[in-house]
Amino acid sequence: MRRPLIAGNWKMFKTAEEAHVYAEELSRRVSGVENREILVCPPSVYIHPLVRAFADSPVMIGAQNVFWEDEGAYTGEVSAPMLRSLGARFCLIGHSERRQYFLETDATVNQRLKASLKAGLTPIVCVGETLKERQDNTTIERVSSQLTNGLKDVSTDDASRIVIAYEPVWAIGTGKTATPEIAQEVHGVIRSLLAGIFGAERAGLIRILYGGSVKPDNIDVLMAKEDIDGALVGGASLDAASFERIIRYRG
Ligand code: 13P
Repeated sequence: MRRPLIAGNWKMFKTAEEAHVYAEELSRRVSGVENREILVCPPSVYIHPLVRAFADSPVMIGAQNVFWEDEGAYTGEVSAPMLRSLGARFCLIGHSERRQYFLETDATVNQRLKASLKAGLTPIVCVGETLKERQDNTTIERVSSQLTNGLKDVSTDDASRIVIAYEPVWAIGTGKTATPEIAQEVHGVIRSLLAGIFGAERAGLIRILYGGSVKPDNIDVLMAKEDIDGALVGGASLDAASFERIIRYRG
């Protein structure tokens, strides 16, 4: 019912040449993969060449961020219609690194989300608690406010076009993956929160990805969980062979 989605977030890595070599290798490795969607989110300067390089493969391309206005005097920003016109299909929104280093808030997540939906981009809204919030037992409170404020005023009709990524901040780039049980527990809560916002039927259609030190050796157990509908992979997506193994998870 929910098509699995395996997404790679390159963050700020790779030269143009490295991006090109990777695209050739990954295209070759995933040709013929079915029953799951594959996404690569490179730095925005590589979106156009990678859309072309992956044209004959099942790999789709997404952006790592998007601005909320369509156009205007906003030096350095890139809009949703621009990304769409390059062939990007998805867009990450509110990644914890953007919240931490670029001061993004739930309010701007909401603006970016609406702009993406309007332009026909599929938004991947990132939520997740810090280590301190987990230790203080405020994980659910944190994730709940990120979702409620981030998804404010989104219509029920648009709900199934949204993807949520649960990325506990303490698991990102640290090698500390949430256990499948911890991840499932939060994914289950996220699904109930979505049901509270959009109704149970729509919530059942929304994909919830897990992100945070996903590797070839933990993807299978994570994907076996009921409410884990895919993965958002950082470091392990930078190598085509390890990303292929994650894409070809067993389960
Ligand atoms: P790592 O897989 O490197 O922990 O990064 C996760 C992430 O932030 C993906 O968006």
